Amino acid sequence: MPKTYGFGVIGAGMIGNFHAEAIKQLPNAKLVAVCDDVTGAADLFAKKHGCAAVTDLNGLLSRSDVDVVTVATPSGTHADLAIAAARHGKHAIVEKPLDITLAKIDAAIEAHAKSGTSLGGIFNGRFLPTARLLKKAVADGRFGRMTFGMAYGPWWRDQRYYDQGGWRGTWKLDGGGAYMNQGIHTVDLLQWLMGPVRCVKASTTMIAHQRIEVEDTGAAVIEFASGAIGTMACTTSMWPGHFRIVEVSGTDGTVAMADQNFFFWQFRAEKPDDQQIREKYLQFPAVSIGAANPSAGMTAEGHRENFASFLKAVDEKRTPEIDGTEARKAVQTILAIYESARTGKTVTLG
Ligand SMILES: NC(=O)c1ccc[n+]([C@@H]2O[C@H](COP(=O)([O-])OP(=O)(O)OC[C@H]3O[C@@H](n4cnc5c(N)ncnc54)[C@H](O)[C@@H]3O)[C@@H](O)[C@H]2O)c1
Repeated sequence: MPKTYGFGVIGAGMIGNFHAEAIKQLPNAKLVAVCDDVTGAADLFAKKHGCAAVTDLNGLLSRSDVDVVTVATPSGTHADLAIAAARHGKHAIVEKPLDITLAKIDAAIEAHAKSGTSLGGIFNGRFLPTARLLKKAVADGRFGRMTFGMAYGPWWRDQRYYDQGGWRGTWKLDGGGAYMNQGIHTVDLLQWLMGPVRCVKASTTMIAHQRIEVEDTGAAVIEFASGAIGTMACTTSMWPGHFRIVEVSGTDGTVAMADQNFFFWQFRAEKPDDQQIREKYLQFPAVSIGAANPSAGMTAEGHRENFASFLKAVDEKRTPEIDGTEARKAVQTILAIYESARTGKTVTLG
C-alpha cells in the first residue's frame, strides 16, 4: 500500500492556494493544515481548502500527521522555515527562489542532510513535456557543439502588484526584482539545458515603477562552462508582457520555446519523431502564463508535477530531481548578475 503524505502549507497567499490545489490533485497526498502569521489569511485558506488553520509555526511542525511542508511565504523567509521543518523531521518543498542568499540556502541544505529529510525546490518549467523533450535532445547530443542559449522573460507588473504585500520589490524579502522573482524560472531552464554558467556580465535598472528598491529591467551576457555564449534578459517593465522564450542552439540544431510550446524545432539529423513533435507543439500559446500578472493563465498542474516528482523520490529514498543543490544554481547565477550590474565587472561563478 503506497504511503499517503500529510501536507502542511506555510503561507496562505497567492501561490499557497496553488500548492493546496496541487496537493488535492495528488492521489498520495492529503492537505492537513495551513500556517500563516496573519490569522484571517490562515482561516480563509483553511475554509476554502478544507484543512486546519494555525498561526504558530511550531503548531504546524509539531503535528504528527504532517510529513511534508510546502513553503509559500516571501522569498527571504524560505530557508529559515525549511530549517525549522528539518529540525522537526519534516520534508520541505520550497518556492522559488529557495532563498535569496547562498549562505541561507547552504544552511537549509545542511539542516536537511543532518535530519535525513528531503529538501526540494520548485521550478515547474522543468516538468513541462516540451522541456523534457528539449532536455532529452540535449542529453542525446543532437545539438552538436552547443553554441548559444537565450533566456528571455519579457514580462510586465503594474505598480499595484508591487504596492501589495509590503515585501515585494524589497532587497530584504524579495531579494531582487525581474530576475530573482519573475525571471528565475527562465534563468533556471536555460542553465538546466545549457549546463553550468561560468561567468556573467550584466546591466540592470529600474525604469517603469516607483517605490521599489530592485530592478525591473535587466540584460546579461553569459558564458557557459561548455564554451557556449548566451543571454539572459528579464523585465517587469514591458507592457503588456508576453511569452517566456528559451532558445538552445548548436552546430547541429536549434530549438526555441515560447512558454509551454515550441516555435522552432529543427535538427540537421532529422528523426522520425521530429515531425510529430512539431505537429503537436509548434504553435504560440494562446495565453502567456504569468506575463502580465503572477497568476494569469496559471493552473496547479505545474506544482502538481513538481510535488509528485518530489514524493516519488521520497518513496524511493533517493534525492529529489530538484533538490537544494539544483534549486541553488539559478540563485547563484542571479546573484552574479546583480554583482556584475553593481560593479560593472564580469563575475565568475565560484
Ligand atoms: N512558482 C511560481 O510560479 C510562483 C509564483 C508566484 C510566487 N511564487 C513565490 O511564492 C512566494 C510567495 O509569493 P506570493 O505571491 O504567494 O506572496 P503573498 O504575499 O501573496 O503570500 C505570502 C503569504 O505568506 C504569509 N507569511 C509571511 N511570512 C510568514 C511566516 N513567517 N510564516 C507564515 N506565513 C507567512 C503572508 O501573510 C502571506 O499570506 C514567493 O517566494 C514567490 O517568489 C512562486
